[in-house]
Amino acid sequence: MRNASHFSIFRLVLCSSFLLPRFLAAAEKEPTKYIGPGSCAATSCHGSVKPVAGSRILQNEYSTWIIQDKHSRAYQALTGDLGERMARILKLGPKAEEAPKCLVCHALYTTPEQRGRAFEISEGVSCENCHGAASAWLGPHTTRSWPHEKSVALGMHDTREVIHRTEKCLECHLGTRNKFVDHEMIAAGHPDLYFELDSFSAVMPRHWKVPRESEPGKPGEDAAWVGVREWSTAQAVQLRGAMERLTWRAKNERFDKKDVWPEYSELSCFACHHALGPAKDSWRQEHGYVGRRPGDPAWNASRYAVFRLLAKQMDSANAQELDRQLLAVSDEMSKLTPDRNVVASAASAAAPLAQRIAERLATMPYDQAIALRMLQRISDDAENIALADERAAEQAAMAMDSLYIAYSRDTKPANAAEVRAAISALFQQLENPSSYNADHFASSLRRIRTLLQ
Ligand code: HEC
Ligand code: HEC
Ligand code: HEC
Ligand code: HEC
Repeated sequence: MRNASHFSIFRLVLCSSFLLPRFLAAAEKEPTKYIGPGSCAATSCHGSVKPVAGSRILQNEYSTWIIQDKHSRAYQALTGDLGERMARILKLGPKAEEAPKCLVCHALYTTPEQRGRAFEISEGVSCENCHGAASAWLGPHTTRSWPHEKSVALGMHDTREVIHRTEKCLECHLGTRNKFVDHEMIAAGHPDLYFELDSFSAVMPRHWKVPRESEPGKPGEDAAWVGVREWSTAQAVQLRGAMERLTWRAKNERFDKKDVWPEYSELSCFACHHALGPAKDSWRQEHGYVGRRPGDPAWNASRYAVFRLLAKQMDSANAQELDRQLLAVSDEMSKLTPDRNVVASAASAAAPLAQRIAERLATMPYDQAIALRMLQRISDDAENIALADERAAEQAAMAMDSLYIAYSRDTKPANAAEVRAAISALFQQLENPSSYNADHFASSLRRIRTLLQ
């Protein structure tokens, strides 16, 4: 708070100064600071125990974060047994909590100059990881009728907008050139990263109102469709992110230029990690290995297998070209030694197409008919999805779940309980991924098709 008011006084002085350009250059050098979640925790700000009635926001955001949200304990994941063991296996030194390789995602890892006085690295993934450094907007944003846009201009991250929001989550839940989880880390014990905005937001859990209260002059959100918009838009953003990641990996543009190729975490995990049994019982052998040499591990198609159906329905022109590029990615990545240039060229062509579809999905209207068509298309395509990969099947299960919740919310179909049970059965089949069976999954997914009216 103190920082911010000094800042505005400073600006007033500046504006009347003849030396404006020089002062401005100095001000630009003064970095905005991360002040730590304690500055947001006052009961009258974001630390109320219960949501405050009549307020535009809930005001118990801090309480939700500190009590329920795993992000507040992300640093402790590093000091726990699993974190310490990983540090040992990866030879990072005795303490994972001192390794930048881990802190970049498990804490607010910034330069010392960017840290305010109350800043504590042990507070994990906190408010400013997602909302941006607060020193410049903390003071003004507490005044009534201060618009969100002005905070954004002062460095607040625009998490309101679904594409920006998803990009923020994906920095840590998919990775960037500077922070990533690769197969080496996974083999040392790190969970494999996957993400789906709607369900992850629910698990977090959300500390914001859904739907958002409408602002003067802007249309309000339709509660039933917030989840579907988040799900579909985030699928597109995630595909774009995955294509960008594949591009920098193919071009060896990681910050330390030490990328391995092919990076196993880009491939289908269960191509290598499934259980072996009698040949006659193998659904893999039964179906052959379409599009690749028997025995070569396939590309992980999970971010595309379900999304392509959505893209086709909503934006067929871009979807056709996207299909062409992703087929090239898939063909090349499913070879034992994929050609880096071929992969980089197809993946970098796919990314902007996915972005264009994201922009369309973020703003288009959604309704019952769209949700039903998507539910039908996904279940119609059961065989392709199931054979693509266990992780693609998982995406299908999450998609069916999100879509059906929205679809049935107002229509209340008579067999809703039966459909919900059938969707739960999809999740059950994924509980032990190494023994996943594509034929069983496909038949469960097809069964839902017959239940949809
Ligand atoms: C690219 C970001 C990223 C990096 C880098 C990263 N992690 Fe993680 N880590 C995550 C995410 C995201 C999760 C949660 C995964 C999930 O549940 O979907 C996680 C989960 C974990 C967990 C499991 C926590 C639990 O509650 O079960 C441990 C332990 C862990 N990470 C340790 C490490 C260590 C040690 C390092 C450094 C070697 C590291 N992480 C680097 C993003 C990252
Ligand atoms: C993991 C990311 C993440 C963390 C950590 C986080 N937030 Fe949020 N927050 C979001 C997202 C996403 C939204 C919803 C989009 C929006 O309204 O900006 C949100 C919404 C909010 C809102 C409602 C904004 C509005 O205009 O409706 C407030 C207030 C808020 N957060 C405060 C906090 C505070 C205080 C903390 C720390 C105690 C915190 N957040 C931690 C991601 C995060
Ligand atoms: C700065 C990195 C970072 C950002 C940004 C981030 N996360 Fe996370 N997230 C993590 C880490 C690290 C964990 C693991 C924490 C643990 O288990 O100790 C995690 C865990 C989670 C979990 C718990 C997963 C589980 O297995 O229980 C959810 C849900 C989640 N994040 C959702 C989100 C959403 C939604 C956003 C965007 C609004 C987001 N995260 C943004 C780093 C991040
Ligand atoms: C091209 C083959 C291949 C692919 C694809 C692959 N792995 Fe591995 N994985 C290996 C090999 C080889 C080892 C080392 C096994 C050993 O030494 O016992 C390994 C080790 C592991 C381990 C540690 C083994 C243990 O016993 O705990 C885990 C966990 C793991 N991989 C998870 C994954 C995940 C998750 C994915 C997908 C994101 C994946 N792997 C993709 C080949 C692969």
